[in-house]
Amino acid sequence: MSAAVWTQSLRKEFTLGWGRGRVLAVEGLDLEIKRGEVFGLLGPNGSGKSTAMKMILGLLRPTAGRAEVCGNLAGTLAARKQIGFLPENPYFPAFLSGLELVRYYGKLCGLGGKALEGRVAELLSLVRLGGEAGRRPLRTYSKGMLQRAGLAGALVSDPEIVMLDEPTAGVDPAGSREIRDLIRELKERGKTVIFSSHLLEQVEDVADRVVILHRGQKLREGRLEDLLTMSGEWQVRARGLGEAQRRELHAWLVQHGAEVLGEGSPRERLEDYFLRNLPERERR
Ligand SMILES: Nc1ncnc2c1ncn2[C@@H]1O[C@H](COP(=O)(O)OP(=O)(O)OP(=O)(O)O)[C@@H](O)[C@H]1O
Ligand SMILES: [Mg+2]
Repeated sequence: MSAAVWTQSLRKEFTLGWGRGRVLAVEGLDLEIKRGEVFGLLGPNGSGKSTAMKMILGLLRPTAGRAEVCGNLAGTLAARKQIGFLPENPYFPAFLSGLELVRYYGKLCGLGGKALEGRVAELLSLVRLGGEAGRRPLRTYSKGMLQRAGLAGALVSDPEIVMLDEPTAGVDPAGSREIRDLIRELKERGKTVIFSSHLLEQVEDVADRVVILHRGQKLREGRLEDLLTMSGEWQVRARGLGEAQRRELHAWLVQHGAEVLGEGSPRERLEDYFLRNLPERERR
């Protein structure tokens, strides 16, 4: 079976007006994203994540190279049909409710009648905007709720691939976790999820594989676990050690020729701390 997304030597060069030269946004990018995979595009601002996504979507024409979606040339109708997209800074008419937004997207995909209403209700409940929340105008939504409404819209055509450009940008820790839980849920439903982020911690516990971009080029690629494991080092976490035993342990390490790189109480991630200290009813 063809890959969900396949690119070869993908390149995008923007020509700036008024003789201001060119910007090489993506250069020689080879990707192979398998079906059912959760794939993260990582990299700092301006590293080419959005540009790469737009070429895969067919919203931008590559300067050179090729991109295919489920075996179809990117940009063709057959390719576009496979992808649901949540853009980086989505614009939603603020007077619509979440429900109306998703219904509108559904109509654009040619859905209607009972099938559409059923689908809208199912998606709103998936993104936890069922009931009252879904009927409120978007202008009353938080950033996290807006992202979830947009995600429901991206899913309305039941696409094979879901592409999310910085889905957690500007969203607080609890909201980010909800979005990551949704990504996991989509994976369980057999979807391929491709998303970008400039925050490594946002992808750590959800991506199966990542590519790290730098100035439009692939810096590293692989399973995060493999990329992040420092195999030359060893870490022990223990409870119940007294002061004397700690000194003894330290002495033992030095005596056996180890270079002690760090010692002390481990720190929790701020996000986990925050979520752990939320009132019970707000935890999920
Ligand atoms: N339409 C455009 N015209 C000219 N240059 C562009 C255009 N779009 C993007 N660029 C440039 O291409 C490079 C890559 O931009 P891109 O938006 O793909 O990066 P990104 O990784 O998505 O960044 P961010 O994390 O800020 O969203 C940047 O140098 C950017 O200024
Ligand atoms: Mg971007």
